[in-house]
Amino acid sequence: MKKASGGGMPRIRIVGGHRLNGEISICGAKNAALPLMTAALLTDEPLTLRNLPRLADIATLSSLLTHHGVDIEVNGTGMANRGRVAYLHAAEIADTTAPYDLVRKMRASVLVLGPLLARCGVARVSQPGGCAIGTRPVDLHLKGLQQLGAEIELDGGYIEARAPNGLTGGHIVFPFVSVGATENLLMAASLARGETILVNAAREPEVQDLARCLVAMGAKIDGIGSDTITVQGVDRLNGAEHAVLPDRIETGTYAIAAAITGGELMLRGAELTHIESFADALRAAGVDILADDRGVRVSACNGRVTGVDAMTEPYPGFPTDLQAQFMALMTVADGAAMVTESIFENRFMHVPELARMGANVTLHGASALVRGVGSLTGAPVMATDLRASVSLVLAGLAASGETIVNRIYHLDRGYERVEEKLAACGAEIERVRD
Ligand code: EPZ
Repeated sequence: MKKASGGGMPRIRIVGGHRLNGEISICGAKNAALPLMTAALLTDEPLTLRNLPRLADIATLSSLLTHHGVDIEVNGTGMANRGRVAYLHAAEIADTTAPYDLVRKMRASVLVLGPLLARCGVARVSQPGGCAIGTRPVDLHLKGLQQLGAEIELDGGYIEARAPNGLTGGHIVFPFVSVGATENLLMAASLARGETILVNAAREPEVQDLARCLVAMGAKIDGIGSDTITVQGVDRLNGAEHAVLPDRIETGTYAIAAAITGGELMLRGAELTHIESFADALRAAGVDILADDRGVRVSACNGRVTGVDAMTEPYPGFPTDLQAQFMALMTVADGAAMVTESIFENRFMHVPELARMGANVTLHGASALVRGVGSLTGAPVMATDLRASVSLVLAGLAASGETIVNRIYHLDRGYERVEEKLAACGAEIERVRD
């Protein structure tokens, strides 16, 4: 194998068994950055976003926003900040259609719907399809917008939304928690006439980050971080400057990298209060995790972790986006763990791949019974979605021998330079092409 350079599909090659030690800088959160970027559509003034992660998903959304007429300039001074500051300026909306070719690459594209409709009174957005982790409909987004007075039709695979006289405030009770629907409605309600109340709203830190940025843009929002959010609509929003919060899922992922190798990592810039229930599960497994003034320190030098049950739930519960990584850790734990997925119906695609590395996991509907094994063995494995792929990387760090992770384009959607960050802390990992 050669280092990544010429043709061939890139893969990640790992030789496991190295204890990690060192420091990793945590990026801005992908799942906050995406909605924040779409908020630029709400105003004709520039929105400056700092601490953006350098990821494929950010580039995909930039293409879509450019198509809508947003001028985007990316820069940032110094090595650490280069490419992390974006100036987004939607002086005029050039096109209110989000076409299939751009939306199909990334479901989060549907977040342009609320802002376009609120600002232009019309939006046509390709319906996002299903994806590897489940069917993922957008019915809550659409019902909520209808409650703000939008007329919505589905035609030829497109969501056609109209509000010729503008949106009006409404009382929206979500039947269950949806991050994306809360975000779309928050943005739409900010420019609606009158008061909107969102009940059973998502409380995720990324939703809070969006709400804070909207407030900086002149929106009137109360109840940020609670499950009832009140928005008093305003006539127009202004430009603002906002720094994206640190990525709690990247933080949790590297915390597991420390835990699964019996190592110690300082996760610089991370915020422990955003991952409390995950941190509690790690502590119960025997891992030390604590905040200090530089970020979060994780230490797993006390020997093998013990099996701990976990069930994914909306924030502040255990995040679904850390379920696959936690399961990788549990495969080598002392004892058994029941890992239950309550958010997505099909988020266990990492299970057969982990089994190929020697993991002992039995699926029962939404639960996985993981019986810890003494050690994993390296194998060629296939990534199916973003978090599943990184769970295979984590398993590879602990496994004896060589693991090759294929289809790593999933990984590049959400993790910046994952192999460089891990290699700098002692992992034997590289990107190769064959
Ligand atoms: C966000 O997706 C994240 N994506 C996901 O991260 C994350 O897993 C998810 O929230 C849950 O925390 C972004 O922020 C860009 P939801 P979202 O609406 O907003 C169902 C990652 O790996 N639902 O909270 O799409 C839905 O099918 C990704 O970074 C409806 O039925 O998630 C799911 O079962 C993957 N109808 C549940 O609700 C709707 O209208 C929660 O989904 C909307 C959602």
